[in-house]
Amino acid sequence: MPLPKAELHLHIEGTLEPELAFALAERNGVELPYADADALREAYRFEDLQSFLDLYYELMAVLREEADFEELADAYLARAAAQGVRHAEIFFDPQAHTERGVDIGTVIEGLGRALDRGEERHGITTGLILCFLRDKRAESALATLESAKPYLHRLTAVGLDSAEAGNPPGAFAAVYEAAAALGLRKVAHAGEEGPAAYVREALDVLGVERVDHGLRCLDDPGLVERLARERIPLTLCPLSNVRLRVVDTLADHPLPRMMDAGLLCTVNSDDPAYFGGYVGDTFHALRDALGLDEERLRELARNSFEAAFLPEERKRAYLAEVAAYEFE
Ligand code: HPA
Ligand code: ZN
Repeated sequence: MPLPKAELHLHIEGTLEPELAFALAERNGVELPYADADALREAYRFEDLQSFLDLYYELMAVLREEADFEELADAYLARAAAQGVRHAEIFFDPQAHTERGVDIGTVIEGLGRALDRGEERHGITTGLILCFLRDKRAESALATLESAKPYLHRLTAVGLDSAEAGNPPGAFAAVYEAAAALGLRKVAHAGEEGPAAYVREALDVLGVERVDHGLRCLDDPGLVERLARERIPLTLCPLSNVRLRVVDTLADHPLPRMMDAGLLCTVNSDDPAYFGGYVGDTFHALRDALGLDEERLRELARNSFEAAFLPEERKRAYLAEVAAYEFE
Protein backbone atom coordinates (compact mmCIF):
# COMPACT_ATOMS: atom_id res chain seq x y z
CA MET A 1 0.00 0.00 0.00
CA PRO A 2 1.44 3.41 -0.94
CA LEU A 3 1.92 6.28 1.53
CA PRO A 4 -1.34 8.29 1.77
CA LYS A 5 -0.91 11.82 0.45
CA ALA A 6 -2.67 14.86 -0.98
CA GLU A 7 -1.81 16.33 -4.36
CA LEU A 8 -2.08 20.12 -4.41
CA HIS A 9 -0.31 21.10 -7.62
CA LEU A 10 -1.67 19.24 -10.59
CA HIS A 11 -2.84 20.70 -13.90
CA ILE A 12 -5.55 18.41 -15.21
CA GLU A 13 -4.58 19.30 -18.80
CA GLY A 14 -1.07 18.12 -17.90
CA THR A 15 -2.40 14.62 -17.26
CA LEU A 16 -3.28 14.15 -20.93
CA GLU A 17 -1.32 11.03 -21.85
CA PRO A 18 -0.32 10.63 -25.53
CA GLU A 19 -2.57 7.59 -25.97
CA LEU A 20 -5.63 9.47 -24.70
CA ALA A 21 -4.66 12.49 -26.81
CA PHE A 22 -4.74 10.31 -29.95
CA ALA A 23 -7.99 8.63 -28.97
CA LEU A 24 -9.68 11.99 -28.41
CA ALA A 25 -8.16 13.41 -31.61
CA GLU A 26 -9.74 10.61 -33.57
CA ARG A 27 -13.10 10.89 -31.82
CA ASN A 28 -13.22 14.67 -32.37
CA GLY A 29 -11.72 14.74 -35.88
CA VAL A 30 -8.68 16.75 -34.76
CA GLU A 31 -5.46 16.39 -36.74
CA LEU A 32 -2.31 16.10 -34.57
CA PRO A 33 1.07 16.88 -36.16
CA TYR A 34 2.62 13.64 -34.82
CA ALA A 35 2.55 10.17 -36.37
CA ASP A 36 1.56 8.36 -33.18
CA ALA A 37 1.80 8.39 -29.38
CA ASP A 38 5.47 7.37 -29.43
CA ALA A 39 6.36 10.18 -31.81
CA LEU A 40 4.52 12.59 -29.56
CA ARG A 41 6.38 11.34 -26.49
CA GLU A 42 9.63 11.95 -28.37
CA ALA A 43 8.69 15.64 -28.53
CA TYR A 44 8.70 15.88 -24.72
CA ARG A 45 12.13 17.47 -24.49
CA PHE A 46 11.88 20.89 -23.04
CA GLU A 47 14.30 23.80 -22.82
CA ASP A 48 12.29 25.83 -20.36
CA LEU A 49 8.72 26.55 -19.21
CA GLN A 50 7.69 28.22 -22.49
CA SER A 51 8.80 25.31 -24.70
CA PHE A 52 6.63 23.02 -22.56
CA LEU A 53 3.67 25.41 -22.58
CA ASP A 54 3.73 25.56 -26.39
CA LEU A 55 3.14 21.81 -26.62
CA TYR A 56 0.76 21.72 -23.63
CA TYR A 57 -1.57 24.30 -25.22
CA GLU A 58 -1.27 22.71 -28.68
CA LEU A 59 -2.40 19.30 -27.44
CA MET A 60 -5.45 20.73 -25.69
CA ALA A 61 -7.06 21.00 -29.13
CA VAL A 62 -8.26 17.40 -28.66
CA LEU A 63 -10.38 18.35 -25.62
CA ARG A 64 -13.75 19.49 -26.97
CA GLU A 65 -16.74 17.84 -25.29
CA GLU A 66 -17.86 17.42 -21.69
CA ALA A 67 -17.13 13.69 -22.01
CA ASP A 68 -13.49 14.46 -22.95
CA PHE A 69 -12.90 16.42 -19.77
CA GLU A 70 -14.68 13.76 -17.76
CA GLU A 71 -12.51 11.01 -19.23
CA LEU A 72 -9.35 13.03 -18.64
CA ALA A 73 -10.15 13.62 -14.97
CA ASP A 74 -11.31 10.06 -14.37
CA ALA A 75 -8.04 8.70 -15.84
CA TYR A 76 -6.05 11.00 -13.54
CA LEU A 77 -8.01 9.94 -10.45
CA ALA A 78 -7.44 6.27 -11.25
CA ARG A 79 -3.69 6.77 -11.60
CA ALA A 80 -3.48 9.01 -8.55
CA ALA A 81 -5.42 6.55 -6.39
CA ALA A 82 -3.03 3.77 -7.35
CA GLN A 83 -0.19 5.93 -6.03
CA GLY A 84 -1.76 6.71 -2.66
CA VAL A 85 -3.45 10.04 -3.38
CA ARG A 86 -6.39 10.47 -0.98
CA HIS A 87 -7.17 14.10 -1.76
CA ALA A 88 -6.44 16.17 -4.89
CA GLU A 89 -6.87 19.90 -5.51
CA ILE A 90 -6.87 20.12 -9.27
CA PHE A 91 -5.96 23.11 -11.46
CA PHE A 92 -7.64 23.81 -14.77
CA ASP A 93 -7.03 26.56 -17.34
CA PRO A 94 -10.43 27.75 -18.61
CA GLN A 95 -8.99 30.44 -20.89
CA ALA A 96 -7.02 27.82 -22.83
CA HIS A 97 -10.37 26.23 -23.71
CA THR A 98 -12.71 29.19 -24.10
CA GLU A 99 -10.23 30.73 -26.56
CA ARG A 100 -10.76 27.66 -28.75
CA GLY A 101 -14.52 28.04 -28.57
CA VAL A 102 -15.12 25.50 -25.79
CA ASP A 103 -17.54 26.86 -23.21
CA ILE A 104 -16.38 27.10 -19.60
CA GLY A 105 -19.48 25.13 -18.59
CA THR A 106 -18.39 22.23 -20.80
CA VAL A 107 -15.04 22.18 -19.02
CA ILE A 108 -16.32 22.49 -15.45
CA GLU A 109 -19.29 20.16 -15.84
CA GLY A 110 -17.12 17.54 -17.55
CA LEU A 111 -14.43 17.65 -14.87
CA GLY A 112 -17.12 17.85 -12.21
CA ARG A 113 -18.79 14.64 -13.36
CA ALA A 114 -15.55 12.72 -12.81
CA LEU A 115 -14.79 14.46 -9.52
CA ASP A 116 -18.29 13.76 -8.19
CA ARG A 117 -17.56 10.06 -8.52
CA GLY A 118 -13.99 10.41 -7.24
CA GLU A 119 -14.65 9.35 -3.69
CA GLU A 120 -16.89 6.42 -4.51
CA ARG A 121 -14.91 5.12 -7.47
CA HIS A 122 -11.33 5.99 -6.49
CA GLY A 123 -11.43 6.89 -2.78
CA ILE A 124 -10.24 10.43 -3.51
CA THR A 125 -11.77 13.67 -2.24
CA THR A 126 -11.22 16.61 -4.58
CA GLY A 127 -11.27 20.34 -5.10
CA LEU A 128 -11.09 22.39 -8.29
CA ILE A 129 -8.83 25.43 -8.69
CA LEU A 130 -9.60 27.81 -11.54
CA CYS A 131 -6.32 29.21 -12.90
CA PHE A 132 -5.93 32.49 -14.75
CA LEU A 133 -3.32 32.65 -17.50
CA ARG A 134 -0.84 35.34 -16.44
CA ASP A 135 0.34 35.99 -20.00
CA LYS A 136 -3.19 37.21 -20.85
CA ARG A 137 -4.63 40.53 -19.77
CA ALA A 138 -6.21 41.03 -16.35
CA GLU A 139 -9.50 41.93 -18.12
CA SER A 140 -9.61 38.44 -19.58
CA ALA A 141 -9.11 36.96 -16.09
CA LEU A 142 -11.98 39.11 -14.75
CA ALA A 143 -14.26 38.03 -17.60
CA THR A 144 -13.31 34.40 -16.91
CA LEU A 145 -14.20 34.74 -13.23
CA GLU A 146 -17.51 36.33 -14.20
CA SER A 147 -18.29 33.45 -16.56
CA ALA A 148 -17.49 30.93 -13.80
CA LYS A 149 -20.10 32.34 -11.41
CA PRO A 150 -22.81 29.78 -12.32
CA TYR A 151 -20.33 27.04 -11.31
CA LEU A 152 -19.06 28.61 -8.11
CA HIS A 153 -20.26 25.66 -6.04
CA ARG A 154 -17.75 23.49 -7.87
CA LEU A 155 -14.73 25.72 -7.18
CA THR A 156 -12.41 25.77 -4.17
CA ALA A 157 -9.86 28.40 -5.17
CA VAL A 158 -8.33 30.52 -7.88
CA GLY A 159 -4.75 30.19 -9.12
CA LEU A 160 -2.36 31.85 -11.57
CA ASP A 161 -0.23 29.96 -14.07
CA SER A 162 1.39 29.98 -17.54
CA ALA A 163 4.50 31.97 -18.58
CA GLU A 164 5.91 33.58 -15.44
CA ALA A 165 8.94 35.63 -16.52
CA GLY A 166 7.89 39.22 -17.12
CA ASN A 167 4.32 38.57 -15.90
CA PRO A 168 4.26 39.63 -12.21
CA PRO A 169 1.32 38.60 -10.04
CA GLY A 170 0.40 42.16 -9.04
CA ALA A 171 -1.44 42.74 -12.33
CA PHE A 172 -4.14 40.36 -11.07
CA ALA A 173 -4.90 42.13 -7.77
CA ALA A 174 -8.46 43.08 -8.74
CA VAL A 175 -9.48 39.62 -9.93
CA TYR A 176 -8.05 38.01 -6.78
CA GLU A 177 -9.98 40.48 -4.68
CA ALA A 178 -13.16 39.66 -6.60
CA ALA A 179 -12.50 35.91 -6.20
CA ALA A 180 -12.02 36.28 -2.45
CA ALA A 181 -15.29 38.23 -2.24
CA LEU A 182 -16.97 35.19 -3.84
CA GLY A 183 -15.57 33.00 -1.07
CA LEU A 184 -12.78 31.40 -3.10
CA ARG A 185 -9.37 30.56 -1.61
CA LYS A 186 -6.23 31.94 -3.27
CA VAL A 187 -3.03 30.35 -4.57
CA ALA A 188 -0.61 31.39 -7.34
CA HIS A 189 2.41 30.06 -9.18
CA ALA A 190 5.37 32.22 -8.21
CA GLY A 191 9.11 31.74 -8.08
CA GLU A 192 9.31 28.93 -10.63
CA GLU A 193 11.15 30.89 -13.35
CA GLY A 194 10.26 34.30 -11.92
CA PRO A 195 12.19 35.98 -9.09
CA ALA A 196 11.69 35.85 -5.32
CA ALA A 197 10.07 39.29 -5.63
CA TYR A 198 7.11 37.62 -7.41
CA VAL A 199 6.64 35.35 -4.40
CA ARG A 200 6.53 38.40 -2.13
CA GLU A 201 4.09 40.09 -4.51
CA ALA A 202 1.82 37.04 -4.59
CA LEU A 203 1.68 37.14 -0.78
CA ASP A 204 1.42 40.90 -0.29
CA VAL A 205 -0.67 41.99 -3.28
CA LEU A 206 -2.77 38.91 -4.07
CA GLY A 207 -2.94 37.58 -0.51
CA VAL A 208 -2.30 33.97 -1.51
CA GLU A 209 -2.45 31.30 1.18
CA ARG A 210 -0.19 28.86 -0.64
CA VAL A 211 2.59 29.39 -3.18
CA ASP A 212 2.89 27.06 -6.18
CA HIS A 213 6.57 26.21 -6.76
CA GLY A 214 8.09 29.11 -4.82
CA LEU A 215 11.55 27.64 -5.32
CA ARG A 216 13.21 30.97 -6.04
CA CYS A 217 12.41 32.16 -2.51
CA LEU A 218 15.83 30.68 -1.76
CA ASP A 219 17.41 33.80 -3.31
CA ASP A 220 15.88 35.90 -0.52
CA PRO A 221 16.75 34.74 3.03
CA GLY A 222 14.29 37.17 4.61
CA LEU A 223 11.49 35.69 2.51
CA VAL A 224 12.47 32.14 3.46
CA GLU A 225 12.31 33.12 7.11
CA ARG A 226 8.89 34.70 6.62
CA LEU A 227 7.45 31.71 4.71
CA ALA A 228 8.70 29.40 7.47
CA ARG A 229 7.41 31.61 10.29
CA GLU A 230 3.98 32.08 8.71
CA ARG A 231 3.76 28.39 7.75
CA ILE A 232 2.91 29.25 4.16
CA PRO A 233 2.91 26.02 2.15
CA LEU A 234 4.97 25.64 -1.01
CA THR A 235 3.72 23.14 -3.59
CA LEU A 236 6.99 21.89 -5.07
CA CYS A 237 7.17 19.82 -8.25
CA PRO A 238 10.65 18.30 -8.44
CA LEU A 239 10.22 16.25 -11.65
CA SER A 240 8.83 19.34 -13.38
CA ASN A 241 11.80 21.37 -12.16
CA VAL A 242 14.21 18.91 -13.77
CA ARG A 243 12.30 18.64 -17.07
CA LEU A 244 11.91 22.42 -17.37
CA ARG A 245 15.53 22.98 -16.35
CA VAL A 246 14.75 24.93 -13.22
CA VAL A 247 17.19 22.58 -11.45
CA ASP A 248 19.92 20.50 -13.14
CA THR A 249 19.16 17.06 -11.73
CA LEU A 250 16.91 15.59 -9.07
CA ALA A 251 19.97 15.03 -6.87
CA ASP A 252 20.52 18.82 -6.94
CA HIS A 253 16.97 19.63 -5.88
CA PRO A 254 16.94 21.96 -2.86
CA LEU A 255 13.99 20.17 -1.20
CA PRO A 256 16.04 18.82 1.75
CA ARG A 257 17.59 22.24 2.33
CA MET A 258 14.14 23.81 2.21
CA MET A 259 12.74 21.35 4.74
CA ASP A 260 15.75 22.00 7.00
CA ALA A 261 15.02 25.72 6.75
CA GLY A 262 11.59 25.04 8.27
CA LEU A 263 9.60 25.60 5.07
CA LEU A 264 6.27 23.78 4.78
CA CYS A 265 7.11 21.82 1.63
CA THR A 266 4.78 19.57 -0.29
CA VAL A 267 5.66 17.35 -3.25
CA ASN A 268 3.45 17.24 -6.35
CA SER A 269 3.51 16.20 -10.00
CA ASP A 270 2.50 19.41 -11.90
CA ASP A 271 1.99 17.91 -15.40
CA PRO A 272 2.68 14.21 -14.92
CA ALA A 273 1.98 13.09 -18.50
CA TYR A 274 4.78 15.39 -19.65
CA PHE A 275 7.30 15.23 -16.82
CA GLY A 276 7.84 11.53 -16.34
CA GLY A 277 5.74 10.56 -13.36
CA TYR A 278 2.75 10.89 -11.07
CA VAL A 279 3.09 11.91 -7.45
CA GLY A 280 3.91 8.45 -6.08
CA ASP A 281 6.60 8.11 -8.75
CA THR A 282 7.91 11.49 -7.60
CA PHE A 283 8.16 10.34 -3.97
CA HIS A 284 10.09 7.24 -5.09
CA ALA A 285 12.41 9.25 -7.32
CA LEU A 286 13.13 11.67 -4.45
CA ARG A 287 13.87 8.83 -2.07
CA ASP A 288 16.33 7.38 -4.56
CA ALA A 289 17.99 10.62 -5.73
CA LEU A 290 18.10 12.50 -2.44
CA GLY A 291 18.14 9.63 0.04
CA LEU A 292 15.03 10.87 1.85
CA ASP A 293 14.34 8.51 4.74
CA GLU A 294 10.94 7.25 5.87
CA GLU A 295 10.42 10.03 8.38
CA ARG A 296 11.11 12.68 5.75
CA LEU A 297 8.64 11.03 3.37
CA ARG A 298 6.06 10.85 6.15
CA GLU A 299 6.67 14.54 6.90
CA LEU A 300 5.99 15.38 3.24
CA ALA A 301 2.76 13.39 3.33
CA ARG A 302 1.73 15.11 6.57
CA ASN A 303 2.52 18.52 5.05
CA SER A 304 0.36 17.76 2.02
CA PHE A 305 -2.73 17.34 4.20
CA GLU A 306 -1.82 20.26 6.46
CA ALA A 307 -1.58 22.50 3.38
CA ALA A 308 -4.85 21.27 1.87
CA PHE A 309 -8.08 23.29 1.78
CA LEU A 310 -9.95 20.67 3.78
CA PRO A 311 -12.28 20.91 6.77
CA GLU A 312 -10.35 20.31 10.02
CA GLU A 313 -12.12 17.05 10.76
CA ARG A 314 -11.23 15.57 7.38
CA LYS A 315 -7.69 16.80 7.71
CA ARG A 316 -7.32 15.08 11.08
CA ALA A 317 -8.63 11.81 9.64
CA TYR A 318 -6.11 11.89 6.78
CA LEU A 319 -3.27 12.87 9.14
CA ALA A 320 -4.17 9.86 11.28
CA GLU A 321 -3.80 7.65 8.19
CA VAL A 322 -0.33 9.10 7.60
CA ALA A 323 0.68 8.58 11.24
CA ALA A 324 -0.49 4.96 11.17
CA TYR A 325 1.18 4.16 7.83
CA GLU A 326 3.76 1.38 7.92
CA PHE A 327 6.48 1.44 5.30
CA GLU A 328 7.13 -1.91 3.65
N1 HPA B 1 4.10 26.58 -14.61
C1 HPA B 1 3.27 27.50 -15.11
N2 HPA B 1 2.18 27.20 -15.78
C2 HPA B 1 1.87 25.93 -15.99
C3 HPA B 1 2.68 24.93 -15.51
C4 HPA B 1 3.85 25.27 -14.77
O1 HPA B 1 4.64 24.44 -14.29
N3 HPA B 1 2.10 23.76 -15.87
C5 HPA B 1 0.97 24.06 -16.55
N4 HPA B 1 0.83 25.39 -16.62
ZN1 ZN C 1 2.15 24.20 -12.21
